[in-house]
Amino acid sequence: MRELINSGISGVGMAVPERIMTNADIEQLVETSNEWIVTRTGIKERRVSAPDETVASLGAKAAKLALENAGVTADKLDLIICATTTGDFLWPATACLIQKDIGAVSAAAFDISAACSGFVYALSVADGFIRTGAMKNILVIGADTLTKQLNWQDRNTCVLFGDGAGAVLLAPTQPGYGILSFTLGTDGGKFDVIGIRGGGTRNPITHEGLDLKENTIVMRGSEVFKFAVKIMGDASLNALEKAQLTIKDIDLYIPHQANLRIIKAAADRMGLDENRIFLNVEKYGNTSAASIPIAMTEAAQSGRIKTGDVIVTVGFGAGLTWGANVIRWDCRNGGMG
Ligand code: UT7
Repeated sequence: MRELINSGISGVGMAVPERIMTNADIEQLVETSNEWIVTRTGIKERRVSAPDETVASLGAKAAKLALENAGVTADKLDLIICATTTGDFLWPATACLIQKDIGAVSAAAFDISAACSGFVYALSVADGFIRTGAMKNILVIGADTLTKQLNWQDRNTCVLFGDGAGAVLLAPTQPGYGILSFTLGTDGGKFDVIGIRGGGTRNPITHEGLDLKENTIVMRGSEVFKFAVKIMGDASLNALEKAQLTIKDIDLYIPHQANLRIIKAAADRMGLDENRIFLNVEKYGNTSAASIPIAMTEAAQSGRIKTGDVIVTVGFGAGLTWGANVIRWDCRNGGMG
C-alpha cells in the first residue's frame, strides 16, 4: 500500500470589505442597543461588502495573498475548494470564478456548502486528496457575504453577521505535522433551525416570497446556541482523540467566531482557558465559512502560532453541520512564522 502523506498549511491570506458597520449604525435600523449586542454576542462591529464586492472577489483577494505568503504561483495549483453559502451565482460554483481570476490554469475547482462549518469540511476534503498523493497544491477558501442576504429589519439576525474571506494553501508536509485528524458531522433533521427558505427549487422565489423576505436568513437563535456549545466540545474532543492528544495539548484554539458567549461556554465545558483561544468576533461578527481562515490568518500573522504548535479548529452551523481539525503547525515550507 502507498504511504500516506501529511498535508500542512503553507500559506494564509484574508480579505475583508473596507466598510465598517458599528453597533451604533445598527441601532439606527432596528430596536436594539450596543449594550445588548456586546453583552449577548461580543460583537462590536462587522464588515459589509459593497454591491460589487462578492464571494468571488473577496475570495480571490484572500487566495492571492495566501499564495504570495506560501511563495507559490497560481499555475502550480491542482485544486481550488471554496466553502461558501453565499456564492456569486446559484451555479456555476464560485470556485470557478476564483480559478479564472487568479490564473490557476491547471486547477480543478468546486464549492462546498456546509455553512459556517464549510472551511473545516473543505480542509478535511483537501487533506484527503494530498494524503493519498493524488494532488499537491490545494487552495482552500472560506468566503461569505451574508450581509447581502440579511433582513435588516430582523434584529434576531441582522446584528450577528459580517462579510469576508480567508484562504490557506495546503501542501504536503513532513510526517507528524500538518492536519493530524478531523471529525465531521451533520444532523439534517434540524435543517430548519437556520437557513434561507426561498430561491431554491423547492420554493422558487416569487414576488410574494420577496415581499415576505424569503430570500433572507431566518434562525432560531437559542437552538443554535445550545447546539453550538455542546457540539464544539464534543467535536474538539473527538478530533483530539483521533490525533491521540488531549485538551491540555492545545496551543491555540481557533473556533468559528459566531458569538463570544458560545465560545466561552464551550471552553468552560471543556476546561480550556481563555488565553489559548483566538478571538476576533468583536471586529468582524460572524463571517460564516470565512471566520476560521480569517482568524487563522490573523493568528499566524500576529505571531500567535509557532512551528510545532497544536491548533484545533472547530466549526458549527446550518445543516446542522459541525466539524473540527487538529493541526500541528509547520511553517517550514511557507512564508509564515
Ligand atoms: O454560525 C451559526 C449562526 N448562528 C448563530 O451563531 C446564532 C447563535 N445564537 C446566538 O448567538 C444567540 O441565541 C442570539 C445572540 C441570537 C440571541 O441571544 P439569546 O441570549 O439566545 O437571546 P434570545 O434569543 O433568548 O432572546 C432574548 C430576548 C428576546 O426578547 P424577549 O422575548 O425575552 O422579550 C429577544 O426578542 O432578546 C431579544 N432580542 C434582542 N433585543 C435587542 C433578540 N435580538 C435582539 C437584539 N437587540 N438584536
